[in-house]
Amino acid sequence: MSNKPHRIAMLGTGLIGWFYTKSLHEHRRPDRVQVVYSRSEERGKAFAEEWNIPKYTTSMEEAIKDKSVNVVIVGLPNDLHLEAIKLCCKYKKSVLCTKPLARTGAEAKKILEMVEKAGIFHGYLEDLAYTPKTLHALQSVKNGVIGRVTWARSREAHPGPHSSWFWDLKKAGGGAIVDLGCHCIEIARNYIGKDIRPVEVMCWAATQVKPIEAEDNAIALVKYANGAVAQFEVSWSFRGGMDLRDEVAGTEGVIRTDHFMRTGFEMFTAAQEASYVAEKAESASGWLFPVGDEVNSLGYTHMFTDMFDSLDNGTTPMESFYDGYIVNAVIDACYKSAKTKKWEPVVIKDWRGRTDVTEPSPFVDYDADHWHIKDEFLPDGRKKVILKEKVTGNIIQRVL
Ligand SMILES: NC(=O)c1ccc[n+]([C@@H]2O[C@H](COP(=O)([O-])OP(=O)(O)OC[C@H]3O[C@@H](n4cnc5c(N)ncnc54)[C@H](O)[C@@H]3O)[C@@H](O)[C@H]2O)c1
Repeated sequence: MSNKPHRIAMLGTGLIGWFYTKSLHEHRRPDRVQVVYSRSEERGKAFAEEWNIPKYTTSMEEAIKDKSVNVVIVGLPNDLHLEAIKLCCKYKKSVLCTKPLARTGAEAKKILEMVEKAGIFHGYLEDLAYTPKTLHALQSVKNGVIGRVTWARSREAHPGPHSSWFWDLKKAGGGAIVDLGCHCIEIARNYIGKDIRPVEVMCWAATQVKPIEAEDNAIALVKYANGAVAQFEVSWSFRGGMDLRDEVAGTEGVIRTDHFMRTGFEMFTAAQEASYVAEKAESASGWLFPVGDEVNSLGYTHMFTDMFDSLDNGTTPMESFYDGYIVNAVIDACYKSAKTKKWEPVVIKDWRGRTDVTEPSPFVDYDADHWHIKDEFLPDGRKKVILKEKVTGNIIQRVL
């Protein structure tokens, strides 16, 4: 294990480049951005000054091949991920790429093959799988707190992205599904189990509000080989801020998390908040919902810790490019299903998880003659048991 601080090339000085750099440079963390790439010299210079970064450049290749750099972070629009990662392979630099890994499953597969061929470290920057609440919830699920996971729901909705390229189908690869659904798919996948194959998808997608080619709203169901179902809801036209909520249910319990709008921090101002409130907040007066430590609440802190620890230890991080590829494969099936209005298979060319998984039986013995359905305590203190007779199939109840 090496504990040497990492020297980073940050590609992109937009919203995510800023959040990533903030996560890395605050709280005396050792890993530092050494060089920043921006198309605009003026923006690169301003960004470098803001974060005390020694170098800036308008050449992506210069930033990646810089001798002082050992890790590259890709924070560029979706259509530039492939090009940036190709250069990381050329110069054998470890690479961390923001979500979505690519615009399609085929593009993601190409990226995965490239990094594996080059033998470089790769991490998929899916921050919402790393929020402190999600990490705690995932551990509880692993500990069996909710029993067998049957259903996971993830919702990401906000008033729409902040830059033109997101709204351009060619550059982004899709609309709200590729932009927000990618988070939801991976969160649910973590809860259900990454070794469980996502099998098929049913998706509704529509352009309800914005004059764009892509979808601005969508809902999908992703069915897994063990019978569990993941549900996601995404919107680019939700008003009132950013709604980030997850829920996971199992045979023994349920967990709900709210990462953004109801975090327990509420503020009212009849004047006006003079500065930034929270990402995608739509108002600076009245009731406000700031998030507190936003980069930590959104998972960036724990995500980078896992990435750099894994790099130091020579292990695979919780989120790798393989995960990014699976997410893109699910997204492809979503788009297909939205068109055909049918369940569509998730096409995964290189499944590395379990292949022995079947759907569990819902039949649990009560006694030799009955299956157990449910116990209920009545308000008067009696207990009722609902059973199914094995021979007749009749459903009966007994009050004990
Ligand atoms: N939670 C998250 O993980 C999260 C949040 C936001 C964005 N993202 C992802 O980060 C990436 C960038 O998104 P963003 O929000 O920072 O976008 P942004 O528009 O705020 O910033 C994009 C950056 O890329 C630069 N850029 C744009 N077109 C370029 C071109 N043709 N050549 C070179 N540079 C170019 C811009 O100047 C800017 O620096 C996207 O893949 C997006 O999906 C991830």
